[in-house]
Amino acid sequence: MQSFNFKCPTEIVFGRGAEKQVAEKIRAYGGSRVFIVYGGGSVMRTGLLPRIESYLTGAGLAFQVLGGVKPNPRLSLAREGVRLAKQFGANFILAVGGGSVIDTTKAIAHGVANPDTDIWDFWTGRAALTKTTPFGSVLTLAAAGSETSDSAVLTNEETGKKQGLNSPLNRAALAFMNPELTYTAPLRQIKAGICDIMMHTLERYFTKVKEPNLFTDLVAESLLKTMMKEARAAVKDTHDYEAMSEIMWCGSVSHSNFTELGRCKDFSCHRLGHELSGRFDVTHGESLTTLWGHWAKYVYQDDVPRFAHFAEAVFGIADGTEEERALAGIDAMVAFFRELGMPTNFTELGIGVQPKDVIVELADMLTFGDTKTIGNFHPMDKQTAIEIYERANH
Ligand code: NZQ
Ligand code: ZN
Repeated sequence: MQSFNFKCPTEIVFGRGAEKQVAEKIRAYGGSRVFIVYGGGSVMRTGLLPRIESYLTGAGLAFQVLGGVKPNPRLSLAREGVRLAKQFGANFILAVGGGSVIDTTKAIAHGVANPDTDIWDFWTGRAALTKTTPFGSVLTLAAAGSETSDSAVLTNEETGKKQGLNSPLNRAALAFMNPELTYTAPLRQIKAGICDIMMHTLERYFTKVKEPNLFTDLVAESLLKTMMKEARAAVKDTHDYEAMSEIMWCGSVSHSNFTELGRCKDFSCHRLGHELSGRFDVTHGESLTTLWGHWAKYVYQDDVPRFAHFAEAVFGIADGTEEERALAGIDAMVAFFRELGMPTNFTELGIGVQPKDVIVELADMLTFGDTKTIGNFHPMDKQTAIEIYERANH
């Protein structure tokens, strides 16, 4: 097993009615002036936001609200949030929504704590992030895992670059996780979220690390099997509390780094997918299922035993040669995505077949003009990225 540091400090309040503790918990983390961030209005329609406001008012906490976060959250709104939160004197930033709202919240928290730095400089690496403002979330969609992750992803709409920032300071102080709050999410978003959760573990399962790591592997395989079982129940009935609970908890574990310990991240498909979202504004989870099978079939020969092990451990595929089992495991994973109705090529993703020059531009953006390789299982240069995009380009 490889050495690791793991600190996931987020206090998780999980279960029915979890959000009712929002005021007392925020106060315990020193919050008295709460800047609330939300998305396109679902939390108004469900009545969740007014309830959160009433809990804060009842506890004597001041708050100000900013809505309008879009999926693939934009830098400009985060900058506006920083300006408003500073003006308000916020000392706690609270997301009420999904991953896009939480990532905007993280950006605002960083901006408030660093008033002289443009937040995008943290994402580009021009400035080092050394402090932030306490923040947390009332989660309404099981998907991105941002409620516990050390990551935040923004899109700079001026350049079309969708960029992640990894930092321990991206770990939230608090996460309120009531599975019932996810019932109202559109089925398409629930499915995309399910696949994103699985991908956060898959992208830690296939890495350059070859040392055995039994416990982490078993956790990862169990998470993937749990997700497939509960996904089938959830898409039949999005009000199935047990299914939505399992999915919500897997979402937080999957991107907390817990399925990575002793291994590392690869995240090639995420990076390939972010370029599609940055350019075409496609749903994150859908960008991943569009690419994963093509990526896997391109790279599996780098570690056939690993893919064969995956096939047996997750899908019970025991027949055939090692290579046949490896390929059957990839096919089984893609078949599950298709069973959910997820896209597995550009046409199904809704962006249509792309001309060669667009593919080249995507690969160029991804690899910063062919100056960086992406991932580590099979490090991708620009040409490799072009070939993987082309496989999905039908
Ligand atoms: O905006 P509202 O009106 O709230 O509607 C949202 C949005 O349209 C809706 N929704 C969410 N919960 C709902 C609901 N509608 C009704 N009832 C509910 N309970 O769902 C839509 C999608 O929301 P969004 O927050 O965009 O989804 P998700 O949680 O999948 O987040 C996706 C974003 O997170 C990033 C993705 O790249 C993408 O930008 N990621 C963030 C990560 C992180 N910070 O660790 C890791 C991930 O890999 C990912 O990259
Ligand atoms: Zn993801």
